[in-house]
Amino acid sequence: MRLLVTGGCGFIGANFLYAMRQNHPDWLLVNLDKLTYAGNPGSLRALEAEAGAAYVFVHGDICDRPLVERVLAEHRIEAVVNFAAESHVDRSIDDPAPFVVTNVLGAQNILDCARRAKIARVVHVSTDEVYGSLGPEGQFRETTPLAPNSPYSASKAGADMLARAYHETYGQDVVVTRCSNNYGPYQFPEKLIPLMYTRAIAGEPLPVYGDGQNVRDWIFVGDHCRGVELALLKGRAGAVYNFGGASEMANIDVVRTVLRLTGQDESLIRFVADRPGHDRRYAMNFDLAARELGFAPSVSFAAGMERTIAWYQANSVWLDEVRSGAYRAFMDKWYGGRA
Ligand code: NAD
Ligand code: TYD
Repeated sequence: MRLLVTGGCGFIGANFLYAMRQNHPDWLLVNLDKLTYAGNPGSLRALEAEAGAAYVFVHGDICDRPLVERVLAEHRIEAVVNFAAESHVDRSIDDPAPFVVTNVLGAQNILDCARRAKIARVVHVSTDEVYGSLGPEGQFRETTPLAPNSPYSASKAGADMLARAYHETYGQDVVVTRCSNNYGPYQFPEKLIPLMYTRAIAGEPLPVYGDGQNVRDWIFVGDHCRGVELALLKGRAGAVYNFGGASEMANIDVVRTVLRLTGQDESLIRFVADRPGHDRRYAMNFDLAARELGFAPSVSFAAGMERTIAWYQANSVWLDEVRSGAYRAFMDKWYGGRA
């Protein structure tokens, strides 16, 4: 296959590219990435060195219509997986505009260019956050009404609706995937687990929002990538598939796990002012993906966390590289005076 992956220099996109290279060495992998603060071409150095001409990096924006058209034509692309997004809820609270531009307009541009170029399939990668928040019981299903609460999740929901509309209106082959919280190698250290890791090893306070009892369903990134691969290869046109890790955890327990694995003391924990609009609980029902795609998470939270922390310990150079000036500026603005 000749596959265009957008946002491949980010956390999940990079893991996905490595997995596709391993599982399908005969595929052409083209990666279109704008290299925002979250995009790190260094994550793909090993892929670049190993894959040769089977991997192509294009530096650019998914909103750039002539560029996307050119990439699709030049590389005779057959399918697109759209990971590119602004992905951090806290940044979306600070400034929603870039989220609407990339996550809504960019996604629409990808759909439109793919439609006109008669691309066989677009997999649009979305999130459980489009469903809003759960109480103590229940799970999100694909039929759960969308009720996004943050500017990030609202922008993702907007793209999901456009994907649906492109399928219904034009008969375009689009598959939407919605996954729960990922963790694993190459995750940018603004998200909970790598943020707590970097602060723990530096002996810095760990800012836990609210009472620390918000629940997320954690999935090891490799399991999410497998789900997206299955959606690409076996998904039904027009379908939405939920993926989850079957690992519901309260934030405070996730933070304690990081402290235990880094040998640091719980006295570093600081309960700080809650995130505005903070969703209380996410839990995923992925029966549909199990039934239609054969999807099942394979890595337990305990095993996945050991692998993740070991990866960060072995990749301190990567961490130093991504914690650049822009990273520090947001951290100071967001956490300054809080923790
Ligand atoms: P990330 O922030 O680590 O990476 C995003 C990548 O997209 C970066 O490389 C960035 O440079 C690139 N990008 C941003 N704007 C772009 C643009 N306009 N044009 C081209 N490239 C652009 O994100 P992630 O955590 O890897 O998430 C990837 C996708 O998966 C997103 O669509 C996100 O909504 C979705 N998702 C993430 C999670 C999670 O837990 N991280 C869970 C479910 C779904
Ligand atoms: P995050 O990794 O930002 O993912 P999302 O908001 O997409 O679920 O946050 C995961 C959970 O951790 C979420 O409930 C917010 C919480 N959190 C903190 O308590 N402190 C922090 O510094 C961060 C970044 C997140």
